[in-house]
Formats: sequence, C-alpha cells, structure tokens
Amino acid sequence: MNEPQARAAHYHDTVVRQFSLMAVVWGVVGMLVGVIIASQLAWPELNFGIPWLSYGRLRPLHTNAVIFAFGGCGLFATSYYVVQRTCSVPLFAPKLAAFTFWGWQLVIVAAAISLPLGYTSGKEYAELEWPIDILITLVWVSYAIVFFGTIGIRKVRHIYVANWFFGAFILAIALLHVVNSAEVPYSWMKSYSAYAGVQDAMIQWWYGHNAVGFFLTTGFLGMMYYFIPKQAERPVYSYRLSIVHFWALIFTYMWAGPHHLHYTALPDWTQSVGMVFSLILLAPSWGGMINGIMTLSGAWHKLRDDPILRFMIVSLSFYGMSTFEGPMMSIKTVNALSHYTDWTIGHVHSGALGWVGLITMGSLYYLIPRMFGQKKMYSVKAIEVHFWTATIGIVFYIAAMWIAGVMQGLMWRALNADGTLTYTFVESVKATYPFYVVRVFGGLLYLFGMLVMAWNTWMTVANGRSVTVAVPAPQAA
Ligand code: HEM
Ligand code: HEM
Repeated sequence: MNEPQARAAHYHDTVVRQFSLMAVVWGVVGMLVGVIIASQLAWPELNFGIPWLSYGRLRPLHTNAVIFAFGGCGLFATSYYVVQRTCSVPLFAPKLAAFTFWGWQLVIVAAAISLPLGYTSGKEYAELEWPIDILITLVWVSYAIVFFGTIGIRKVRHIYVANWFFGAFILAIALLHVVNSAEVPYSWMKSYSAYAGVQDAMIQWWYGHNAVGFFLTTGFLGMMYYFIPKQAERPVYSYRLSIVHFWALIFTYMWAGPHHLHYTALPDWTQSVGMVFSLILLAPSWGGMINGIMTLSGAWHKLRDDPILRFMIVSLSFYGMSTFEGPMMSIKTVNALSHYTDWTIGHVHSGALGWVGLITMGSLYYLIPRMFGQKKMYSVKAIEVHFWTATIGIVFYIAAMWIAGVMQGLMWRALNADGTLTYTFVESVKATYPFYVVRVFGGLLYLFGMLVMAWNTWMTVANGRSVTVAVPAPQAA
C-alpha cells in the first residue's frame, strides 16, 4: 500500500456516503412538494380542504426540504469529503460526525411532521419551533467541532480555499441561527421572538439574506472550488482571485439584508446601506463566477462530452445571472416594481434551481461513484438526460415568473387619468394563471431529472461497494 492509499484507508467516509444518498432522497421529496405547491397556486382545489395539505403549511415544508435537507445534506457530504482529502487526515471525532448525520435527519423529520401540523415560529427559513432549534444548535456545534478539528489536525500546511468557504459557511450559520432564533418559549411547540417590531424584522432579514449568502452561496462555492478543478482536471484559474473573492464576499454579504425591507418602517438610511452593499456584492460574486468558469481555460472541449462538467459550468452561469439580477432588484426604484411579485420567485429559483441545484447535482455525480467503488455513475446517458430536463425546466420556470412578475408590478401601479386603479387585484391574479401552469410544467421537468438521478444513484450503489478513495487536493495555480 503506498502512502496516499494508506491514508485513504483511514478516511471516515460512511458519513459522506450517508449524506450523499440522503441529499438525493430529500431532493426528490423537496422538489415534489415544490411541484405540489406550484400546482396548488394554479389549481387551488388541490388543497382538498385538508389543513395539513394547505398551501400555507406546505410552502415552508418545501423551502425547508430543499434548502436544509437537500442542500444541507449535499453540503455536509461534500465538506466532509473535501476536508479529509485536502488536509490528508481522517475526520476529527468521527462519532460526532455520525451524530451530525442522525441529528440532522431528526431535524428534517421533525420539520416534515411539525410544519404540516401548523407549528411555526412565523420567521421565513427559520420556521421550526424552539425544541427543534435547540437540536439544530447541537448538530451545528458538533459539525463545527468535526470540521475545524479536522483542519486543526491537518498534515498539509496550506488550507485549501474550498475549506475557507466551508468554514465561513459553518461559522456564519451558527451565528445567524443563534441570534435569529432567540425566542421565549410559551409551551412545548410555541414560542415568541425575543425581538419586537422593526428590530424583529431587521434581525429576521439579516438572517434571511445571510441564509442566502452563507447557506445558499458560500457553502456551494466551497463545492465549486474543489469539484470543478477536479472534474476539469485543471488547477483553479487564479488562486489569488479566490482569496480576494473570499474576503470580499464574506465582508459584503453581512450588510445587504435591509434590501428585503425597502419602503418599510426600517429607517431610510438603513435601506440605503442595504442597497449600496448589494450593488457592491456584484463584484465579488462575478469574481467568483469568472474564477470558476475560467478554470476550464484550455479544456473547453470537455464540455462537449462531459455532462457532469456541464452541470457545474451551467450552474455558474445561473449564479452569475442571479447575482446580477439581485443587485438590480435591490435598487429601491426597481424593488418598487419587483417586490411582492413573482419576479422575486423567478430570481429565487434562478439561484436555487440553477446555481444551488445544478452545482450540488454535479458534485454528487462526481462523489457518489467514487464512494461506492465505481469509476463513474451507472449511466452517463442518464446524467445527460438529467442535465437537459433540468436546464429546460429551469428556463420554463424562471421565464414564466419573470413575465408574470413584471406584468403584476405594472398592473398594480397602473392608474387611470382620475387617479383610480386601472386593474383590480383579482384581474392581476387571473392574468397570472397561464404563467403558473407553465411553472408547473417547468417544475415537473426539473423533478423528472431528479428522479432520473435517484434511479441512476440506486443502480450505481447496487453495483458498487463502499470504498474509500485517495485523491490529492487540486493544485493551486
Ligand atoms: C421542482 C422544483 C421546484 C418547484 C416546482 C418549486 C416551486 C416553488 C413554489 C411554487 C414556491 C412558492 C412561490 C410563491 O409563494 O409564490 C417556491 C418557493 C421557494 N422555493 Fe421552490 N421550487 C422548486 C425547487 C426549489 C429548490 C431546489 C430550491 C432551493 C434550493 C427552492 C427554494 C425556494 C425558496 C427559497 C422559496 C421561497 C421564495 C420566497 O419566499 O421568495 N425551490 N418554490
Ligand atoms: C449579489 C447577490 C444577490 C443580491 C444582491 C440579491 C438581492 C435580492 C433582492 C433585492 C431580493 C428581493 C427582496 C424583496 O424584494 O423582498 C432578493 C430575494 C431573494 N433572493 Fe437574492 N440576491 C442575490 C443572490 C441570490 C442568490 C444567489 C440566491 C439563491 C441561491 C438568492 C436567493 C434569494 C431568495 C431566496 C430571495 C427571497 C427572499 C424572500 O423574500 O423570502 N439571491 N435577493
């Protein structure tokens, strides 16, 4: 056994395998609920008059399932895989790592039961009630101990840039969760926020925006910085740019939250600070995107026949698109048109389906065969099918929402010569109907792709066996 093989034999990959498989499972569940709520918006009878199937309860189930279950499991799996390979040591405290797996699944199951039953703290993306919040804290602190413990015992002096992004994501989420979830329990499943009025709103959107910035962005950038160079077999385009990207992104995101509260009771200057920082955010976001895409310099031809690489590069294109759109929407006059409309939903899903979804799927396609002793996934053709159905699905989804959103905004502000409203609200709802049907179609395509992935994963695992592979870290440029 040579040295890398000997080291690899000690890597703790059970937890990587578990999280990878659960990411696929929760992806199917979360997207299925997405398609159900999209259908309910087009055909409200699909609520069936049953409270726990109602839109208001299934919507937070969707957001929690896709962000924290699908995205979260993907992040746990990749960060545990990457930190071991780039530090050349097995995970620190493997039993604690196992606890993070089972604890996180318990959080997800508790969410899947309590949200349809109607238990909610009423804070978006932080709906879960206080006993579950405590469990989240325990799991997250354990995650931090395992991750930073592994960095602490590393055998490689240099800390590879992907770990900086994973590390920032872990620290920031701990801070956001603890501060935003401060609440006063009233009974076992009811609590009240520790903050009141506009402070509560401010804390909530400081959390909400940084949930986007750190959960839906920074962690996935960690994936990008490891798996794109690996799949492309090229070093990161510019290591220097990756460091500038890191610090600029981390510093800027924290200040942008107030763009969710334009034209509210929040002091005007705070809204302007949020807007300005959001505009600045364009620069580090695009710096990161360019760094990822340019990693392919000299290897563009690989895109022609490598569907995994295509997942990764197209995800970066959507990242670039949504991080251009976001700063534009944060301009107060633009937000006056976009806020409350489906434009926001279009923006969310170009980031969520395009960036978060595709980079996770691409990274899992890299990871899963390696974790089960296979050279590649069972069917490369199926990855190709997945790529095209997902991409076409996203285009249908976001194009429908953009058109619907701008139309709604314009209809709501249209005035007659005498100053009365040109359209009643319900007229805008009626005009939106066809776009909701198109969204269901786009969502179904995206879900279909995910089901193909689940089948492909099943076949790969069934044909494989659990192994631990040794791979060196991507080279720094
Ligand atoms: C099959 C795929 C999907 C479909 C059909 C779908 C559908 C929906 C629908 C109908 C809503 C509610 C929109 C509204 O209230 O007007 C929604 C909200 C949301 N979805 Fe999805 N979704 C899908 C996948 C995803 C994924 C993969 C993510 C994240 C990784 C995601 C993140 C979100 C978020 C964050 C919201 C809340 C948006 C807001 O409050 O502005 N979705 N989704
Ligand atoms: C430079 C980066 C970005 C900026 C400046 C930005 C800015 C914005 C703005 C102005 C809104 C509308 C707020 C409102 O009117 O209520 C928004 C909503 C949202 N964005 Fe972004 N965005 C960025 C990137 C992203 C990315 C990459 C994602 C997803 C991966 C994302 C996910 C969301 C979500 C989930 C919401 C809806 C929040 C809610 O109301 O529930 N954003 N963003």
